[in-house]
Amino acid sequence: MNQIVVGLGERSYPIWIGERILSNVGSALDEVDFPLKVAVVTNPTVGDLYCEQLIDTLVASGRQVSVIRVPDGEEYKTLETLENIYDVLIERQFDRYCGIIALGGGGIGDLTGFAAATYLRGLPFVQIPTTLLSQVDSSVGGKTGVNHPQGKNLIGAFYQPKHVHIDVMALETLPKREYSSGMAEVVKYGIMRDLEFFTWLEAHREVLAGRSAEALAYAIKRSCQIKADVVEKDEKEQGLRALLNLGHTFGHAVETLAGYGVVKHGEAVAIGMVMAARASAGIGLCSDDDIERIVELLTYFDLPVTPPDYSVKEYLSVMQRDKKVKDGVVRVVLNHGIGTAELHQVEDLDKLLGELLT
Ligand code: NAD
Ligand code: GLY
Repeated sequence: MNQIVVGLGERSYPIWIGERILSNVGSALDEVDFPLKVAVVTNPTVGDLYCEQLIDTLVASGRQVSVIRVPDGEEYKTLETLENIYDVLIERQFDRYCGIIALGGGGIGDLTGFAAATYLRGLPFVQIPTTLLSQVDSSVGGKTGVNHPQGKNLIGAFYQPKHVHIDVMALETLPKREYSSGMAEVVKYGIMRDLEFFTWLEAHREVLAGRSAEALAYAIKRSCQIKADVVEKDEKEQGLRALLNLGHTFGHAVETLAGYGVVKHGEAVAIGMVMAARASAGIGLCSDDDIERIVELLTYFDLPVTPPDYSVKEYLSVMQRDKKVKDGVVRVVLNHGIGTAELHQVEDLDKLLGELLT
């Protein structure tokens, strides 16, 4: 088992990463003095697979457990579902001395984290991420929230968990497309911050595609270390943390234009990262060889790399509504070769899009 600490002063917390460690959740919670009355928020898909095992370890550690099941799907990451969670917490008399546990992918993690941040002005919570994307990204760093009809994640809070518990074994049951989608975020860490890790991913792509637990544990650990390092330096995204959005500005446009759910988040990020790499090459920051390596690795993991065929005008209309647009100027993360990235202002977005979409 590996352990990483996200160092945020009194809000620091451990991340445990290992194979078949779901049965150790009880002891992990004891180590962080987590409350004895807990609610587990999950959905039927993940709940049917892992809730029984989780309840066993929680009960064995002396905990009283309530399970709250919410429907599966991004379309349920809403204020309405949140209200249903509050209703159950109130009905079951959850007070400030209780805790909340998220068991599921990023959708469940974001929703549960926001419920924990806001119910009684904040209850301690724990993330048990079960998708690759949530294990390497969304469970770490404290971004929580729900969607609004006008856009994704428009309502939320920064609220750090007390513990993150990553069992690689959960990935055995993850559908292939979800697995690939998470791999896009893993590749992202290599491109934005760690050439050595990117090279390691290239060398281990076969075992990773075969979901080797050992290779995955390393890839997840390295990804979490990089994310923890960035979050420690810039928790509230005033600067450095924005680099984690590599591929996301173009990616969000692809997601929005295609309609949520049609193109998965990681798939859109893969397309966005290739667009960013091409934009970088356009101003001499990365080579054709770098682009080729990025495209090859993403393609190996069955990720799309070509932007869907919408017009520049359509891309522009959605990108201008992006949270990363400031005073009409779009800030895009561009990679410098492989292993470094920086935020760049793009003044002439339609010209750039014209070049990238041909
Ligand atoms: P998801 O949570 O929707 O899960 C994808 C699907 O896999 C769901 O149907 C889920 O029930 C199922 N599933 C989960 N674990 C499984 C398992 N072990 N076996 C079988 N099926 C399983 O998708 P996701 O990609 O994990 O997360 C996407 C969400 O994360 C989005 O809402 C996005 O906005 C959010 N996100 C948040 C952050 C952050 O920093 N907070 C970062 C990136 C993404
Ligand atoms: N997923 C980007 C972040 O957590 O900042």
